[in-house]
Amino acid sequence: MSIQSNSRIRAAITAVGHYVPEKILSNADLEKMVDTTDTWIQTRTGIRERRILEQGATSDLGTKALEMVLKNRGIDPEEIEVIIVASVTPDMFFPSTACIIQDKIGAKKAWGFDLSAACSGFIYALVVGTQFIETGAYKKVAVIGADKMSAITDYTDRNTCILFGDAGAAVLIEPSDDPTIGILDHVLYADGSGGCYLYMKGGGSLYPATYETVENKMHYLYQDGKSVFKVAVIGMADVSEEIMKRNNLTANDVDYLVPHQANLRIIDACRERMGLDASKVMVNIDRFGNTTAATIPLCLSEWWHCGKLKRGNTLVLSSFGAGYTWGAALVRWAINNPNKY
Ligand code: UT7
Repeated sequence: MSIQSNSRIRAAITAVGHYVPEKILSNADLEKMVDTTDTWIQTRTGIRERRILEQGATSDLGTKALEMVLKNRGIDPEEIEVIIVASVTPDMFFPSTACIIQDKIGAKKAWGFDLSAACSGFIYALVVGTQFIETGAYKKVAVIGADKMSAITDYTDRNTCILFGDAGAAVLIEPSDDPTIGILDHVLYADGSGGCYLYMKGGGSLYPATYETVENKMHYLYQDGKSVFKVAVIGMADVSEEIMKRNNLTANDVDYLVPHQANLRIIDACRERMGLDASKVMVNIDRFGNTTAATIPLCLSEWWHCGKLKRGNTLVLSSFGAGYTWGAALVRWAINNPNKY
């Protein structure tokens, strides 16, 4: 899809919200659980701590995030028309987490569905939600990125347990009041041949749960970190550069890179390729680790709530994740100042 003419309906993010659980799992805690060190984790990933949801499921993370969205926008749950939930840790296979959230929040008039694109889930879901607005079919679409990664993390595997955390974050998309503001462009990719490097094999129709799948730890995520790193570091930078080039943007035109938070070294490589100063990159991996579908909206919500993200700011959202899936979105921020759209 290329940038649209001004005559079409433009979709914009009109409210943001997030939720992180209270319990903190620090690098010092992990030092007691596996053979690792705070220094190794910080230098190799940039992570200091992550959050763990002790009670409840992904729908609770998503519901709390969406509650904040509704409060910020000042609307009732019944006004939401569609709910899209990006997650790799749905409460269960079915019903969808979107349906569970619809019920928990009381969005009685909404329909919805889950979308599986791992760490690119939020960008994929944002693009899907945008289509519903651009066609004129709907006026209020909620897009949620939420993952309880602790539910599928093996806390005896030092290769993965240091990376992930739990969080939910959400946005509301509506028709824009100004065609120059909103979700302006996107590029999305997938390469299924990368599936063997990052996956959770057990519990699906290929390997339904058995004693053996449990014994073989097939209900935990597996990652060949080095292989994923090599393609992620190139893929995320490529796609960020591509969206800048096709919209004739220089580094000066971009106010923020909003990257998926998998590894600070991947984020830095992406920033360097875009020619951006570090002050123009949203980074919270140090406090939350990799929260999969939640990372990007969690950044947006935090930066907006502390007043650093302003209407008119130009953002490049960028991600790389399991699938492989990757992509970028160009967004001109629509929301004025906290608690007042
Ligand atoms: O979000 C979805 C997409 N995912 C990503 O983008 C993640 C991409 N991958 C990465 O971010 C990095 O590959 C990791 C952070 C996962 C790993 O970093 P790395 O620099 O690629 O380390 P490595 O796997 O090559 O391991 C280097 C060494 C190994 O030891 P030897 O073989 O050199 O003796 C590992 O055994 O570090 C060792 N190691 C650790 N040491 C201390 C691996 N994990 C740990 C650990 N603590 N937690």
